Amino acid sequence: MATWSAPGKVFLFGEHAVVYGKPGVAMAIRPRVFVTVRKSKSAHHARSPYIDSCFDEMGVKGSVYVNSQLPSSSGLGSSAAVTVATLSAINDEFGKKFTMEEIANMAFAIEKKVQKGRASPTDTSVSTFGGIVLITGTQRRRLPPQNLPLVVGNTLVSHSTSKMVEKVAALKKKNPEICDPILDAIGAVSLCGIRHFSDPHMLGTLMNMNHALLEALGAGHPSLSRLVLAARAAGAYGAKLTGAGGGGCMVAICPKHLKSRVMGAVEACDAKAFITNLDTEGARKEKDV
Ligand code: PMV
Repeated sequence: MATWSAPGKVFLFGEHAVVYGKPGVAMAIRPRVFVTVRKSKSAHHARSPYIDSCFDEMGVKGSVYVNSQLPSSSGLGSSAAVTVATLSAINDEFGKKFTMEEIANMAFAIEKKVQKGRASPTDTSVSTFGGIVLITGTQRRRLPPQNLPLVVGNTLVSHSTSKMVEKVAALKKKNPEICDPILDAIGAVSLCGIRHFSDPHMLGTLMNMNHALLEALGAGHPSLSRLVLAARAAGAYGAKLTGAGGGGCMVAICPKHLKSRVMGAVEACDAKAFITNLDTEGARKEKDV
């Protein structure tokens, strides 16, 4: 039996733009997903296309138990975390000896297949290696760790990443002269962001700009706007949607002493919220229970 865990993630900047090769910045956060795999002759019964693909890809059969503290379909990278933790646990239980780099690549290929072609390697890289990562096309660069107190708010409106990616693609196809500069501007926000990690006021301003640009691309949702505005009004430096949008989660960067107030303001909008920070660790082996 082998148990592995992998963290969730937020996009500080750059979702959707990363699909078109522009720079984006994502950060691994708590909570984690825990997956236990055990050798067995019969197939597992997880009923998840991600988990099925992990066993198919590794060419083995086994039973699997998932304990996820991350809400699914909410923009926090839960499918990537499940995929990375499952591949790592299979690798361990069956003595496959794949490197973490190979696990990250396999997880990306699985996400791409299940999401029918359009996905960036962001979620799977961040979940495998942890920390803060700059993604540009298929390149990833790990950035130095930062202490960024964050509040994540879940609208509880579920969304489909692939549908949102399609929606942005359709708008871009129809209006390239408008959408291309917006995607470039999001890429510029990401690059500006990584130069201002020590300036939370500036980071907040850049997150606000990023949110407005994502809304212009059609990735917003009334419930996201409500939460973002509530967080800003409660004293956050800035707030934006995170992930594909159209529902799901938002993230706010806050002064340390206002974290609880911002969380309360977000929860008062019929949402679920939690305080989080960077998880520097990626996929890791857990003690068997
Ligand atoms: O909603 P999530 O966490 O799957 O994030 C999607 C981010 C996109 O940029 C819209 C797509 C991608 O694969 O990067």
